[in-house]
Amino acid sequence: MEDTLRIKGGIPLKGTIRMQGAKNAALPVMAASLLLRDATLVMDNVPELKDITTMVDLLRVLGADITFSDHRVVVTVPDSVSWETPGELVQKMRASSLVLGPLLAREGRAVMPLPGGCSIGSRPIDLHLKGLAQMGASIDLRHGAVHASTKGLKGCRIYLDFPSVGATENLLMAAVLAKGETVLENVAREPEIVNLADVLRKMGAKIEGEGTGVLTIQGMADLSAASIRIIPDRIAACTYLLAGVITNGAVTVEDVIPQHFDSLLAKLEEASVEVHSMEGSVSVVPSQERMKAVSMKTLPYPGFPTDVQPQLMAVMSLARGTSIIKESIFESRFLHASELKKMGADVELQGNTAIVTGVHSLNCADVVASDLRAGAALILAGLATQGETVVHGMSHVERGYERIKENLMALGAQVSSVVSSKR
Ligand code: UD1
Repeated sequence: MEDTLRIKGGIPLKGTIRMQGAKNAALPVMAASLLLRDATLVMDNVPELKDITTMVDLLRVLGADITFSDHRVVVTVPDSVSWETPGELVQKMRASSLVLGPLLAREGRAVMPLPGGCSIGSRPIDLHLKGLAQMGASIDLRHGAVHASTKGLKGCRIYLDFPSVGATENLLMAAVLAKGETVLENVAREPEIVNLADVLRKMGAKIEGEGTGVLTIQGMADLSAASIRIIPDRIAACTYLLAGVITNGAVTVEDVIPQHFDSLLAKLEEASVEVHSMEGSVSVVPSQERMKAVSMKTLPYPGFPTDVQPQLMAVMSLARGTSIIKESIFESRFLHASELKKMGADVELQGNTAIVTGVHSLNCADVVASDLRAGAALILAGLATQGETVVHGMSHVERGYERIKENLMALGAQVSSVVSSKR
């Protein structure tokens, strides 16, 4: 397996990348197909990534007929499906838990092993379960698995203690087939939620308020076939723009929705980076001046995304001045900091705060990606470093970035895959 990326850095990147569809939008939409009976959902602009094939496998195991090629997923769901989610698929991908709400809503029961811990913190699903219980499900935790059952979900008012993306998606999908009206308060406002509400509405659901903190859903008995185009990946767009910034190059991302990553664009402007934002594309251009350090705190959308925090930290490690980076979404999302330090970055961690003092240059090292976005950050650092950086653990990165090596090469980067013996 090619699990390692070798980067000969120090080359300003130049060119245009057409943005992939958003993995985090495609996964809940695929789970939503389970709300259909004897009907088909067609999705376009689905990125070709391992997490998507894991969801394809899961839907197939549950009984759906599914094809995935040329960025198109076609799922036909029969009148009845299995309600047991295999443990190995949940272990492979936490987002498998998104099938819980739809299965419970349509079959009246669901069994799903708990996703367990991962490298960016414990990530419980208590808010999903609490909301489903409020809608009338009995939830038992036995032998590390959730056993949920109901005689029929009922609409109610649910206040989320935190605007969790996954809990909002699961409860929204469950509410669509519940009896009566559900009001979900303090929900996530991410563009991926809006994409999900869009497809559910095309399937016939009655939903109001997506993109705000309150969702109101009128339950329906049945939904119908639909098709949807998955939104562009805002996190990948940010990552490629930051690759342009860190190499002082000229990079354009096209087929994007710039408003979806306005928080990054605002931060780049604050850092004196020249950004050109147009309808459907954004460019960064080289500067004579070293970028200014900026501070930031990760927050639910429209705040700064936690999924871009590691990449911004890599860029800040070369900025002029000191940057204070606060991570407020995940409990231990600084594993990239120790790897950046190996490359000569000056990063001090104090709990969920990183103090990054910009240095003039980074040095080459062998570094290990602990998770998807940490890996992206290390690649950015490698691209800015004279000499050869080796990033291990590329399988994490490939969960979220389609053809990343080819895209970087198209921008002029010197990168190659090697078979790694280190894990
Ligand atoms: C989604 C994204 C992920 C992103 C995250 C935050 C997908 C497939 N993944 O993950 O890339 O980093 O949003 O923007 O869309 N929490 C609880 N209890 C719960 C649910 C969540 O305590 O029941 C906590 C989590 O541990 C975490 C925080 O809430 O600390 C945010 O989690 P959540 O918004 O649910 O993220 P995900 O949906 O897992």
